[in-house]
Amino acid sequence: IRTIGVLTSGGDCAGLNAVIRAVTYSAIQTYGWKVYGIMDGSMGLIQRPLQFRELTMGTFGGNYLREGGTFLGTTNKGDPFNFPMPDGTIKDRSEEFAEGCRMLGLDALVVIGGDGSMRILSRLCERAGIGMVGVPKTIDNDVHGTDYAVGFATSINVVTEALDRLQPTAASHHRVMILEVMGRDAGHIAINSGIAGGADVILVPEVPYSLDGVARKIRTVLAQGRSHALVVVAEGVKTESGEPFMISYSGGQQRYGGIGNYLTEKIAQMTGAETRVTILGHVQRGGIPSTRDRLLASAFGVKAVDLVAQKQFGTMVGWQGRSVVAVPLEKVCIGPRSLDPCGTMVGTARGLGIYVGEEIC
Ligand code: F6P
Repeated sequence: IRTIGVLTSGGDCAGLNAVIRAVTYSAIQTYGWKVYGIMDGSMGLIQRPLQFRELTMGTFGGNYLREGGTFLGTTNKGDPFNFPMPDGTIKDRSEEFAEGCRMLGLDALVVIGGDGSMRILSRLCERAGIGMVGVPKTIDNDVHGTDYAVGFATSINVVTEALDRLQPTAASHHRVMILEVMGRDAGHIAINSGIAGGADVILVPEVPYSLDGVARKIRTVLAQGRSHALVVVAEGVKTESGEPFMISYSGGQQRYGGIGNYLTEKIAQMTGAETRVTILGHVQRGGIPSTRDRLLASAFGVKAVDLVAQKQFGTMVGWQGRSVVAVPLEKVCIGPRSLDPCGTMVGTARGLGIYVGEEIC
């Protein structure tokens, strides 16, 4: 190994820059390799001229460890094997990617991404004949093979702080405040921050709920002498009859959003309480990476470089128990990792009397 690339792919989150820094520091200082930062995910290797910058010890200047987002840029605009072109046609751009790798003389690529990005990038790297090691990142924390993905810790801090800020308003106005949080396929953000932020109701995609159950819990809270309540709902939760709430964005992209509005209306109707909704959105992805995310990012970056040195390709670094481990990509790229509806977090919430949907265990 003489030259490696590093890129970020998919939605941004806090801690990406800390991973890029750890990869670069370790690759240069431990192994003496050259490191190229690829701009905008795989697009940096597909576009001509190539979009990249050499990363050196001087690149980081003390700042990036502390900054959210990714200074390399990222994209989730499409799969290069089936790439949607501006004229509406679909093109296989994998050979352009492979040629880009050859032009830079890459021996391996460290991919910081979610399971979807890792699946696509591993095929692209195979096509290019270079090795790949993945680093899991997503605020949703739904990547298999790791207890934690980079970005999750910071995002649940943001959501918990949001609840800390909503509670005084709820109490002052005697309202039920509904907070819609991210988590496209999984309820990890909702359950963790809901417990930490003192929610009375937490709805997640993995556990069926009834509006009656929600209303009953709120009526109980109010009858017990508290004049307000907090409800956390993951964006991927559907209506009681199973309809998803979607928002359409430019370029035909569709994202979850709006279940909070539905609940706000229903809770008001069913309990007579005054309700308000907050949809937290991308605020959850930004911000200064927490200590935990910086530590995870640093451990992951160093381990990823060690795996490249050992030519343990087709793997992802993961945090399991107390250690960083190598996980084969076949065990990672199997779709999103759901919240266990019968696991510790749901059990803890139920033990606290929080309504988390119907009992299914
Ligand atoms: O997967 C991370 C995530 O933040 C989801 O929670 C959310 O639904 C989605 O990305 C939003 O994506 P975009 O950045 O395209 O709006």
